[in-house]
Amino acid sequence: MKGIIMSGGRGTRLYPTTKSVSKQLLPIYDKPLIYYPLSVLMLAEIRDILIITTPHDLELYKELLEDGSRIGINISYAVQESPGGLAQAFIIGEDFIGDESVCFILGDNVFYGRDLTLILERAKKELDGAVIFGYPVKDPTAFGVVETDNDGRVISIEEKPAVPKSDLAVPGLYFYDNSVVEIAKGIVPSARGELEITAVNEEYLKRGKLKAELLGRGMAWLDTGTPDSMLKASQFIKAVQDMQGFYISCIEEIAWRRGFITKEQMLGIGESLRNTDYGRYLLSLGDAGYGDEV
Ligand code: DAU
Repeated sequence: MKGIIMSGGRGTRLYPTTKSVSKQLLPIYDKPLIYYPLSVLMLAEIRDILIITTPHDLELYKELLEDGSRIGINISYAVQESPGGLAQAFIIGEDFIGDESVCFILGDNVFYGRDLTLILERAKKELDGAVIFGYPVKDPTAFGVVETDNDGRVISIEEKPAVPKSDLAVPGLYFYDNSVVEIAKGIVPSARGELEITAVNEEYLKRGKLKAELLGRGMAWLDTGTPDSMLKASQFIKAVQDMQGFYISCIEEIAWRRGFITKEQMLGIGESLRNTDYGRYLLSLGDAGYGDEV
């Protein structure tokens, strides 16, 4: 399975901060926002990853993450000339996807929770068509909204409905089989002129191939669309890290625990960052007797 991170867009809701730099390169507490979705793909044991971004930001992403070999993964890059919609990812990424299935994640979505790894493993293993997720929120009107029956079967999915049929927002994390490429090519732009990811999901629903998994209370899904939500996400990450001593979405730690790199390689990165808490955390893992949890 391949992984795609959609990390373009104009970030206009964060102007002036994002006038000259991509939102997903801004920090959520102590690391760039894109580390969070990247770590989700790594937890799903996905090591071939395509980052799609704007022509303007491409070089910055390359500078940050290089080819991924430092953390035992393969990162390639592609450009979305203008924000024509999330489903463009599968057209831009057609050659990268080849004949494989794909896990698609938005570069500004933060997930954290105890069962995350299990949920990812299950979605990957049981994939037959598409798997999306449903997450209860107070105001679903700003999201894709999924309606399910009592057995969890999807009845409807709508993009930003004025009158939502459920309180289940669809987070920016999706698993698709290879037909996603052909489906993305077949959809037409929405009223706002975008190839909507929801249109892709609707097509899977029509084919009887859309599954929705409920993400329950034990999972945090954090939105990072506004200055307030960026700050709240930072405060959340800091609170959990301070309390537990474990870092959230530390990509070098995950790479080591998943066996993508050796402990020595991880410590080498820690050494190069020794004058930061982040680097000292990596160094502390060298002799800590922690379990396998990340
Ligand atoms: O966050 C989850 C939601 O993401 C889903 O519930 C919605 O169904 C889905 O459409 C999407 O809604 P948003 O309104 O949040 O999408 P937005 O246009 O803000 O794009 C999400 C991120 O993807 C954002 O950081 C910018 C980036 N993006 C967006 C578009 C339209 C791109 O990289 N390229 C694009 O063409």
